[in-house]
Amino acid sequence: MDSKNHNTTPKEDEKENPRRTFLKQTSLLTAIAMAPSALVKAAENHVDDKIADVFEKMPLKMEVNGQLQSLSVEPRATLLDILREQLDLTGSKKGCDYGQCGACTVHIDGQRVLSCLTLGVMVNGKKVTTIEGLAKGDQLHPMQEAFIKHDGFQCGYCTPGQIMSAVACVREGHADSEAEIREFMSGNICRCGAYPNIVKAIQDVKEGGLTV
Ligand code: FES
Ligand code: FES
Repeated sequence: MDSKNHNTTPKEDEKENPRRTFLKQTSLLTAIAMAPSALVKAAENHVDDKIADVFEKMPLKMEVNGQLQSLSVEPRATLLDILREQLDLTGSKKGCDYGQCGACTVHIDGQRVLSCLTLGVMVNGKKVTTIEGLAKGDQLHPMQEAFIKHDGFQCGYCTPGQIMSAVACVREGHADSEAEIREFMSGNICRCGAYPNIVKAIQDVKEGGLTV
């Protein structure tokens, strides 16, 4: 009979098993180490709520894709966040949120802008067009058709911003050559590298003389 298994108290057993003791201690240390980060996160959320309370909301009236919108917004809210979070227009993408990628491009009064760098309150009284407002009902915009025809995307994340910039690029008269298109589309980054096909789509629309 194995006396070791039956005649020792749990304490003695633990003494005999340093591996188990080590694992218990390690788990305890891990739990202690995790606690501060959870506390920091909770504190951050609390501070964020407090900051939000401090800002008095401001009225914002703007036309978005042909519809008048009357909103109440924080003065620090960007147009991108207002479009996505308050109006559920999630076509404009948040790629970097720092003006580096172009995924958030929309038109304000016909001019392309980066909505992540535009405060919502700056758009009061203006007309905003997002990718959702480009098609006319079931009829896609010529630039949308051209992107499909030329395979101007892979994952599609950058595509709404690319198309909004592409439309502006043609309207601005900056689509006369491949080099010019590349220069004036350089603010729109595509991690999938669909650039050659994007250029072809823009050239197609430009050469077709389509109204954009
Ligand atoms: S999200 Fe606006 S430029 Fe990247
Ligand atoms: S299609 Fe994937 S990032 Fe441009």
